[in-house]
Amino acid sequence: MFGRNGIDGAGCVKTAGPEAQQGPRHVAVIMDGNGRWAQARGRPRLFGHHAGAKRVREIVNACPDLGVKYLTVFAFSTENWNRTQTEVAGLMSLFRRYISKETRALRDEGVRVRFIGDRVRLDNKLVAMMDELETITECNDRVHLTIALNYGSRDEVSRAIKDLVGDVAAGTLAPDDVDEETLTRYLDTKVLPDPDLVIRTSGEARVSNFLLWQSAYAEYEFVDTLWPDFTKEIFAGIVSAYCVRDRRYGGTRS
Ligand code: IPE
Ligand code: IPE
Ligand code: MG
Repeated sequence: MFGRNGIDGAGCVKTAGPEAQQGPRHVAVIMDGNGRWAQARGRPRLFGHHAGAKRVREIVNACPDLGVKYLTVFAFSTENWNRTQTEVAGLMSLFRRYISKETRALRDEGVRVRFIGDRVRLDNKLVAMMDELETITECNDRVHLTIALNYGSRDEVSRAIKDLVGDVAAGTLAPDDVDEETLTRYLDTKVLPDPDLVIRTSGEARVSNFLLWQSAYAEYEFVDTLWPDFTKEIFAGIVSAYCVRDRRYGGTRS
């Protein structure tokens, strides 16, 4: 995969001029396959979630060299409450453990962390830790890591519409002023650019309610690798492949 079409191992074509290819500025990842990874080893599903959590750091650290400024990872969906109580409780405890263990490294490595998703259903202790991590890293700008936790696209759009309608009712927003850009400002992702590339691991070719509005023109890459086996080399290969895609946005090739 590397070395094709003048692509280097670290990302994209570096040539200047109109033919120069841009790398993805924002990559979003559906980190799937933790359960199957654990099952293949005869271990409980939570063992896979722990292995998966460890992978996040490696991928975050690979971003600057690949020109990826924004990385958004899907950690827990609004549908994941349908899992067993044991798995859900284990995941919530893993998120708390992850935040307390990784905070210092994330801060020192210049990572700005944000969370998207509905916090109302999360326990107060976890929400306090999420708020604190966002605050501690708010001056960082090397990589912007967004963690989608209790996130579902339809839920996000519903909450956005509720807020928007509230502003219309309060008279601070005129119905005639509502357009695509207005709705975007009410989403959890309002400060983020749209994803250029969405990767899903584990061989499933579906989007499972992830960034539906924001990914209207994203490139998708579905890979068979299970998330705990997803290395920075595989990530770099996907970023390289993205660089030769022709994104036409409904137009024709220039
Ligand atoms: C993704 O791995 C992590 C979460 C959804 C929390 P899964 O737990 O979905 O793993 P598989 O798909 O069952 O293998
Ligand atoms: C999507 O994975 C959610 C996350 C990766 C957090 P799932 O494993 O929950 O998705 P489905 O159930 O296969 O669609
Ligand atoms: Mg899954």
